[in-house]
Order: sequence, then C-alpha cells, then structure tokens
Amino acid sequence: MRVLSGVQSNGKLHLGNYLGAMKQHIHLQRDNECFYFIANYHSLTTIQDATLLRQLTCDVALDYLAFGLDPDKANLFRQSDIPEVAELAWILSTVTGKGLLERATSYKDKIAKEIAPSMGLFCYPVLMAADILIYKSDVVPVGKDQTQHVEMAADMAGHFNHAFNCEVLKIPQIRLNQAHVVPGLDGQKMSKSYGNTINLFDPPKKVRKQIMGIKTDSTPVQDPKNPETCNVFAIYKLLATSDEVEQLEQAYRRGGLGYGEAKQQLFDVVERELGPARDKREQLEADPDYVEDVLTTAAHRARAVAGKVMAEVREVCGLLVGKETHRG
Ligand code: ADP
Ligand code: TRP
Repeated sequence: MRVLSGVQSNGKLHLGNYLGAMKQHIHLQRDNECFYFIANYHSLTTIQDATLLRQLTCDVALDYLAFGLDPDKANLFRQSDIPEVAELAWILSTVTGKGLLERATSYKDKIAKEIAPSMGLFCYPVLMAADILIYKSDVVPVGKDQTQHVEMAADMAGHFNHAFNCEVLKIPQIRLNQAHVVPGLDGQKMSKSYGNTINLFDPPKKVRKQIMGIKTDSTPVQDPKNPETCNVFAIYKLLATSDEVEQLEQAYRRGGLGYGEAKQQLFDVVERELGPARDKREQLEADPDYVEDVLTTAAHRARAVAGKVMAEVREVCGLLVGKETHRG
C-alpha cells in the first residue's frame, strides 16, 4: 500500500504531533511504501522568514529521524523539492468549486486565530489535495483535524476524473490516527497555537516543569480522585503500559495519591519515550550532510513518481509540454 502524509514545518513539534501523527507514520514504514514530506509550501501561509523556515524544515527532518524513521524504508522529503505539486494544485483549482473551500473548518479556525486570510491559506486544501493525488496515494494517515481536507482531496480527484473523463487520479482513503486528540497542559487540545504543549525536544528539566504545571483540581491528597476528569491521567494513559495505567487508576480511586506524585509518574513515562530520541537527535544534528542526503535521495524517488502522474494529468488535460521544455 502506498501511504502518504505531510507535516508542516511551522513550529517545534510536541507530544500531540508525536502521538497524533508521527508515531503512526513511523510504525507504518514496516509494511508499506511510505511517502512523508515536510510541508514547507504550506508553512509559507504562516512563516515568512527564510532563515526560520529553513531551520524549522530541518527540525522536522531531525525529529522524524530521531524517533526512528528509517530512510531505507520510508521516503522523507521536502514538499518544495517536488514543484510539480504546485502545478497540479493549479489544475485542481480549475475543477474545484469555491464553495467547497469555503466550507473548510480549518480555514475558518485559522481566520479566527487572526492568521492573515491570504489566497494561499484559502487554497490550502487544494495544495494538500495535490500532495496526496500526485503520488496516487492509497492511504493518508492524519489526525481528526485533517480528515475534512482528505475528504476534499477525494472530492477533487472525483471532479477531475469526471471533467476529463478519465481515471487518472486515485481516490485516497483516510486512516485516522489512534490518539485522536492529545490534551495540552490546560486540558484543551495540545497545539502550538495555544501555548499548552509539551515539546518533544526540550531539556528534561523544562519538560518536568511543564508537567508540574498541568492544571488539576484541588482535591486534598488523602481523598479519592477521579482519573476520568484528570488531565495528568489523560496524557499518562497515552504513554504508559496497560498495567501501569491500571495501577495509577487504582491509586487515584483509593485516595492518598497527590497530584504531584501523579505528575512525577507522568514525567517518568514521558522521559522513557522521549529520552532516547533526544540522544539520537543530538547525534543527527552533528551530521547535517547525512540529513540533507536523506531528504534529497527521497525527493528524487518521490519526484519520479510525481513526474509520471503529472505526465498522465497533462495528457488528459491537453497540456502536453513541448519536447525541449519537458520536465522530467
Ligand atoms: P498544531 O495544532 O500544534 O499546529 P498541526 O496542526 O501542525 O499542530 O498538526 C500536525 C499533525 O499533528 C496533524 O496530523 C494533527 O492531527 C496532529 N496533531 C496536532 N496536535 C494534536 C493533538 N493535540 N492530538 C492529536 N494529534 C494532534
Ligand atoms: N495540512 C496538514 C497539517 O497541517 C499537513 C499536510 C499538508 C498534509 N499536505 C498534506 C497531511 C497531505 C496529509 C497529506 O497537519
């Protein structure tokens, strides 16, 4: 199966990104042909600073590799190394009704957060559809917040095939990531834009401080506590083994467990998950040539696939490019 997903390079990745997206991406590399890209064209909708964008793009690559993405099994590349996606996005925009884009909840959310309503932001789902369709992807693993975009990509593929009376674009399937919504330090969805994150590669001291700051109620230490409504427990559940979860749950219900102690247990499981990746990331950071090599090798493979699909797309649209100018 060909699996495709993208992650924007628009800020430091956090536990929500890891549990909600990256972990599954890395797991899927075992039995599938995977294409994962760093969505730096998409990031331009919010980051307009060349040095920063370069840095954040490199950070995402380091993060994935540190968590075990194996470049021999999965293709990790920069979106902008496949400029054909911008061409396909244009073509798709000609078969996409404006009304479809106006219904995008993510656009409305971003406007509500006062991100400038540029054409790029409005057309974001069209570029995302091009990302998906240009590789004839079978499956797109994403978090709940992105499912509408993948449905739109399926609609656009259908509109294109119908308009040009062909079957060139493949209708993709959504694969919903497991940890649907990881709560942040304040109980809302963990998100860069809410300032409530546990970042993946902050120093342990900072991570501990953030965890100690998680909002809890004021039930006294000796009283029983409800794990279902506790934010510390909600994050713990996503990282601990089932035995550990059961033990902590009993300790909550029994009483005598302070929130400080529960937070310490959460910190321990967070560190168990993040610690080894932190060490690996430091090694990778010291070898930028290796990281660049991973990205360009994968881009080469991805571009070969994209190039073939684009040749079919141009053909059915009547856009054949003259021989001398043909891009390969
Ligand atoms: P952010 O909200 O921090 O800007 P993004 O929108 O860039 O995060 O999300 C990148 C990927 O991580 C998406 O696939 C998204 O579904 C996933 N993701 C982000 N935050 C969470 C969360 N709190 N819980 C689960 N998945 C998340
Ligand atoms: N929009 C996605 C996000 O913000 C990133 C993305 C861009 C993507 N293109 C994609 C995800 C194609 C899956 C498939 O998380």
